[in-house]
Parts: sequence; C-alpha cells; structure tokens
Amino acid sequence: MHLPSLSTTALVLLAAFSSVSQARPRSQYTDPISWEAAYSKAEALVKKMSLEQKVGLATGMGWEKTNCVGNTFASTDPDFPSLCLEDSPLGIRFGNNVTAGVSGINAAASFDKEQIRKRGEYIGEEAYGKGVHAILGPCVDVMRAPNAGRAWEAFGEDPYLAGIATMETVIGIQSRNVIATAKHYIGNNQEANRTASSSNIGKRALHEIWLWPYARAVEAGVGSIMCAYNQYNGTYACENEYTLNTVLKGELGFKGFVQSDWGATHSTAAAVNAGLDMTMPGDIVMGDGLSYFGSNLTKAVENGEVSEDRVTDMAVRIAAAWYKMGQDSENFPETTIRAFNQAESPYVPVQDDHGILVRQMGAASTVLLTNKDKTLPLDAKKLKSVAIIGSDAGPNPDGMNSCPDRGCDKGTLAMGWGSGTADFPYLITPKEGIEKRLGKDVDIKYTYDDFDTDAAAELAKVADIALVFSNADAGEEYITVDGNVGDRNNLTLWKNGDNLIKAVADANENTVVVIHSVGPVLMPWVDHPNIKAIVWPGLPGQETGNSLADILFGDVNPSGRLPYTIAKEESDYPAKISHTFDVDYTEGLQVGYRHFDINNIEPLFPFGHGLSYTNFTYSKLKVKTNKGKGKDVLASATITIKNTGDVDGAEIPQAYIEFPESAGEAPKNLRGFEKVYLKAGKSTKVTFDFTATELSYWDEAEEKWVVPSGTFKVHVGASSRDIRQSASFTL
Ligand SMILES: *[C@@H]1O[C@H](CO)[C@@H](O)[C@H](O)[C@H]1NC(C)=O
Ligand SMILES: *[C@@H]1O[C@H](CO)[C@@H](O)[C@H](O)[C@H]1NC(C)=O
Ligand SMILES: *[C@@H]1O[C@H](CO)[C@@H](O)[C@H](O)[C@H]1NC(C)=O
Ligand SMILES: *[C@@H]1O[C@H](CO)[C@@H](O)[C@H](O)[C@H]1NC(C)=O
Ligand SMILES: *[C@@H]1O[C@H](CO)[C@@H](O)[C@H](O)[C@H]1NC(C)=O
Ligand SMILES: *[C@@H]1O[C@H](CO)[C@@H](O)[C@H](O)[C@H]1NC(C)=O
Repeated sequence: MHLPSLSTTALVLLAAFSSVSQARPRSQYTDPISWEAAYSKAEALVKKMSLEQKVGLATGMGWEKTNCVGNTFASTDPDFPSLCLEDSPLGIRFGNNVTAGVSGINAAASFDKEQIRKRGEYIGEEAYGKGVHAILGPCVDVMRAPNAGRAWEAFGEDPYLAGIATMETVIGIQSRNVIATAKHYIGNNQEANRTASSSNIGKRALHEIWLWPYARAVEAGVGSIMCAYNQYNGTYACENEYTLNTVLKGELGFKGFVQSDWGATHSTAAAVNAGLDMTMPGDIVMGDGLSYFGSNLTKAVENGEVSEDRVTDMAVRIAAAWYKMGQDSENFPETTIRAFNQAESPYVPVQDDHGILVRQMGAASTVLLTNKDKTLPLDAKKLKSVAIIGSDAGPNPDGMNSCPDRGCDKGTLAMGWGSGTADFPYLITPKEGIEKRLGKDVDIKYTYDDFDTDAAAELAKVADIALVFSNADAGEEYITVDGNVGDRNNLTLWKNGDNLIKAVADANENTVVVIHSVGPVLMPWVDHPNIKAIVWPGLPGQETGNSLADILFGDVNPSGRLPYTIAKEESDYPAKISHTFDVDYTEGLQVGYRHFDINNIEPLFPFGHGLSYTNFTYSKLKVKTNKGKGKDVLASATITIKNTGDVDGAEIPQAYIEFPESAGEAPKNLRGFEKVYLKAGKSTKVTFDFTATELSYWDEAEEKWVVPSGTFKVHVGASSRDIRQSASFTL
C-alpha cells in the first residue's frame, strides 16, 4: 500500500474543506447518457487499444494489492483509469466518515419508492465523493429460506417488491455518476456451500422469481451485474452460457458488464465465451497473484480459444458503463478509499446531511406488528418510570466497529455481518434515543444482561412500561458468529431472547417487545397477555435509537410493512438451507407468501403486514381495461383510501393480481403498491397501472412472456392477507 502523493493529498484536503463549508450542489452530477451514446464513445476509445490494454480493463489487479476491494488495470495511450470497485449495498465499506444507513431489507420494508430512490442517491453521492467508480450493490436476491445469511442485504421474498426497490436504488446511485452493481446473479440464496453447490431452478421460476429484480435493474440501465459463487444447473454462474449470454445479454438485452464475485471465476475461455466480462479481484484464488484473465486471456485469444472481437466487446461494455455514468468528466474525484489501510485514507467527509434521511428511513421501515389497547404511541408526559431491558438496547461494549465487518452480535443490532456492511460513524442506541425523547423527569432503569432474567423481572415489575429488546443476526459465510456460518442455524432469538421476553412480560402488564432482526423469527411468547405491542425495526443503521423513538412516541406514525412472511413454525416455510451439492428449487413458484396462500397455511404475520396509529378504509375499487389500443397500460385499478382515525399517517395499499386459472399462478401476486400520506379525515384516490410486465407469466413451452387471456382479478388490501376490495377484468 503506497501513500498518496503529497499533491494528491493536498488536492483532496482542499476538496474536503470546500465540501465541509457547503453542501455539494446536486448540479455537479450529470444524468447518465444513453447506452447508444455511451457505446459510440466506448467503441471509439477501445478501437485505439491493443489486445493487452483491452484485457487489462477486464482484469482485476489482485486482492489487497490496490486501494479498493477491486481495481482494474489502467490503460495509457489511450488513457483509461483503474476502476475502483467497492462494497457495499448499504454504504461504503472500509470507508471513513461515511454513512451507515438502513439495510436493503429495511429499504424494502418502507414500501416507499421515493425514500428508496433517495437512499440510492446518497449512497451514490458518498461513493462518488470517495472516487468509487462502481459500488457493489444493490443486492437483489429474493429471500428463499427465511434464515438465508445475506437476505437482509436485499429486498425480501417478493420479486415485484424487490424489483421496484432494485430499480429505484439503481436509478438513485447512477444519478450520482456511479455505476451500480446488481448482485449475485443467480441462484445465490444461501451461504452454506455457496462455492460448491448448484442451484437447480426450472426456467419458469427462474424468470418469474429469481430473475425478476435483475430484469428491473437492466431496465433501469444498471451498469454492472455480478455473477455469483454458486453454479446454476451444474455450471458455475460466472461461466454459464444460459444465464449470462442467453438470458441476461440476450433476453434482457443487458448492455453493461458482468463482473465476477470475488474469486468466482473458474476458467478463461469457458467464462469469457459464456459472457463474463471482468474477473474480480483478479486472482484465481484470492491473494495468489495469478489470474484466469490477464496474460491467460491474451494467450487464449492468440491460440484461438477466444475471439478478439469478444475481448473488444468486454472492454467496450466496461468503458461504456464508465461513459454512461459521465465518469469521463474531469470532475470525477480522485479515489481516496484505502480499503486495506483505512488509517491511511485522506480525510474526505461525504456524509453531508444523510443522517437525517437514515433516521427518516429507519422510522419509515419500522413495522408495528401488534398494538393492543392503544399502548403505543407512548406519552412521555404521562410516564413516570420506564424499564429498558436487553443487550439489544445498548452499545457494543467493545466499540461499535470493534468486530471486523460487524462479525459479532454485541449490543444493539443495526446491520448484519459480512462484506455488505459499512463502519458506523456513530451509533445512537435505542436506550439513548428513548432517553433523549423521554427527558429528565422520567425514571429510567435499564439492564443489558440478557441472562439474568430475575434481575430483568425486578426492573420490569416497578415500571409503568417495560421495553424489552432482543435480536437475531446473520451474515456472510467467511465469518462465523456463535456457530452460525452466515446462515442462521435456527429461527429463534439470540442470547436468551425468548426467556428474557417471557420473564419481563410475566412481571409487567405493559410490555412492549422490540426486535432487531435480519429476517423472520419464531415468537413462542406472541400471545402473552401482557405483551401489548411488538415493534419490528429490522436493521435501521446508525440512527437506530432516534428512529425507534420517533415511532414509539408517535412523532412518526408507523407505516412499514413486512417484506417477508413471519410463519408460526419453521416447517411452514417453502424452502430450507440445503446442505447437499444439489440445491433443488422444487418449490417452483411457491416462494414466500405464494406458498402460504397455495397451501392454506396461516402465517403468524403475513407479507405486507404493518399497523398504524390511525385507521384507513378502502372503497370504490374500479378497474378499466385498455384492450387492443397498442397501449402500454393494459388495465388500471383505482381505489379510494381514507384516513378515518384521528391522527395523520401513511397507508400502503397493495395490489395483488390473480391470473386466469390457465396461467397456473399463485392466487395472489403483488403487482403494485403506493405509499399514500393522508391527514386525519382525508381521502385520496390511488391508481395502479398494469402493463404487460405485471400481467405476464413465463411460458415454458414458448420460452417467452405471455399475457394470458381470460379473467383476471385485482385484490387491493393492507397486506397479502388483509384484502379489502376485489374486482375483475378480462383481457
Ligand atoms: C473520520 O473517520 C476517522 C476514522 O474512522 C475518525 O477517526 C475521525 O474521527 C472521523 N472524523 C470526523 C470529523 O468524524
Ligand atoms: C435447470 O434444471 C431444471 C431442473 O432442475 C430444469 O427444469 C431446467 O430446464 C434447467 N434449465 C436449463 C436452462 O436447462
Ligand atoms: C493461467 O491459468 C492457469 C489455470 O488455467 C493457471 O494455472 C496459471 O497459473 C495462470 N497463469 C497466470 C500467469 O496467472
Ligand atoms: C439459535 O441460535 C442462536 C444463535 O446462535 C442461539 O443463541 C440460540 O440458542 C439457538 N436456539 C436454539 C433453540 O438452539
Ligand atoms: C456442503 O456440501 C456437502 C456435499 O456436497 C455436504 O456434505 C456438506 O455438509 C455441505 N456443507 C454445508 C456447510 O452445507
Ligand atoms: C381502528 O378501528 C378499529 C375498529 O373500528 C378500532 O377498534 C381501533 O381502535 C381503531 N384504531 C385506531 C388506531 O384508531
């Protein structure tokens, strides 16, 4: 690792000071240009390159040898920079003075397109500010098994929700002149044996479920897609002709570049000919200094195993993504990431006011699961004493960033572990957030000991209200936490959570349970009469305590919705983590709530569920079709939503399509949602437009998307199991 030259440092510091004194004007960013325009620039550039130069663009310089987690070789005459590729889907991993915001799973739980877009924008701004060319996010893989280790990085169990979240995130990031990377393509839905297993998926489910978010990413103009560690049907995802050339570049028309996951390349000619455009971080085995690309790729061209046209195509795709995002501008910042020596990184603050958005998103993604007797919101003026119980309410005693890549479960849980993380610049704990909001006149007693249930009960017994915290963590397989190799070993709460909650609830009849979790957990205590409310803030990031207080005290009316089903029992779920080489996706389309609907299994809390401090009614559902007019919109549904309670709030009406029986679909398929903010007593109309995208299924015999003819139903409701109005239309 070399120090930046003095002149670079000085320039960076100057830039840093000016960005401290004034917020960066949005006008410094340029809109991405079209692929056509980007290709003509890229083709002109690459035409001047030698074979070695083109290969260099496609080859990583090696693990821990460069400033970022991945860097490509630069080219001189013609000039092209070493591209900096940096994690993660939620912020800048290994970055100092960056924002550590809500996780992908929370972005999804907000069901808020505007907020998800803004999240993408600030992540893009921070990456740009650090001179990162490609950020390694969003993670878009649909949640298969509920305990899948990295599901929290992505957007939940429904492909439509994940697709919208993907699209908004990609557009947001790329509007800030940074290449977004949708990952991990495809079938990377568990951590166990991820480098040595094959996800075997039928073509229909592949298209309708697992591919869907990638299709939306391509529509949004995503610059890069990362192929996964695992195999698909017995061939590695990074050398899979069907998934890369046929589906991604063929059917979807992806114009950007495919980069390998770190160490996921397994060949030279086979990978390149199947559609891999860039190998990362370059090595064969991370850190070995060898490569399937580099001189091996040059040789493969010379001996005819790979055509030079294909290498030209790789370089053009990489350069085109760079031009598309306007990175040829002389304003594009110097790379100041020092991933493997953070202490050497020059001071370049990029946080701006992003913490405000993180707090808003933390509140917007908090799901109120239950709320009896209007226990919430709390009234700070009426409370005399509050008990705060559980290590999840407090700090990590060793320091908020003490565990590399957050690989431990100490203190409050605000993100999972692995490469999908960022360092916290600060962390407002739940206790701090609540304490600040309660003020000095309330007697606050707390314990962070999860195992001394007697002490917890003693505290709870004498308080007006007992807030009991617990969590469940997960992450990436290269770190093991409490015996969990990425995926969770079970669906129960960690650190004695169930016993702690039960002890507190036995002792206090106003018990509020708060769970920070990467995904669903079992709740054996759910029917305890003293548990008056269950609050589900997921993984809210650095502002966790403040955003929780915003919800608990009603400063923000909850509107978050579950992006996955919480089942009564683990065996109710459609898929488990597999420990065999072959991971057969025998559930087909029965993923998430589709499985619960088809098999009539009652969930504990359904997909899309979330309460508010007010009530909304749904009325006057009307459906119109737009047959045969060559219009994009084939049908649209309009419904009136009214806030009938006495406080302002937001509702998330969800539109589920029931296909004609001939299509063989699940009874309900999410195909629209909107977040509508309504003052108490006010109403509004919400319209859902359905195009061929929303109304097609994948016809396996025809190998294409088909809008079936027949009678469709549209079900509009407050969750997948709380349908308020239905109507039908015929196409
Ligand atoms: C910037 O980050 C470094 C490393 O985490 C930290 O020591 C420093 O205090 C931060 N500076 C500011 C102003 O937050
Ligand atoms: C992959 O395997 C599944 C069965 O496991 C099969 O249905 C599907 O057609 C295969 N995909 C391809 C592209 O052959
Ligand atoms: C080229 O690839 C082979 C494996 O196919 C590997 O053994 C060799 O070390 C590579 N050469 C270089 C220079 O990386
Ligand atoms: C589930 O895993 C967590 C974390 O490792 C552990 O604390 C808990 O005891 C486990 N639950 C059961 C029932 O084994
Ligand atoms: C990995 O797969 C092998 C079989 O190929 C199996 O024996 C082993 O238990 C699996 N390991 C994990 C962690 O799932
Ligand atoms: C919503 O309406 C139900 C039934 O009318 C009522 O019991 C409940 O208290 C209302 N909730 C709120 C938050 O107004």
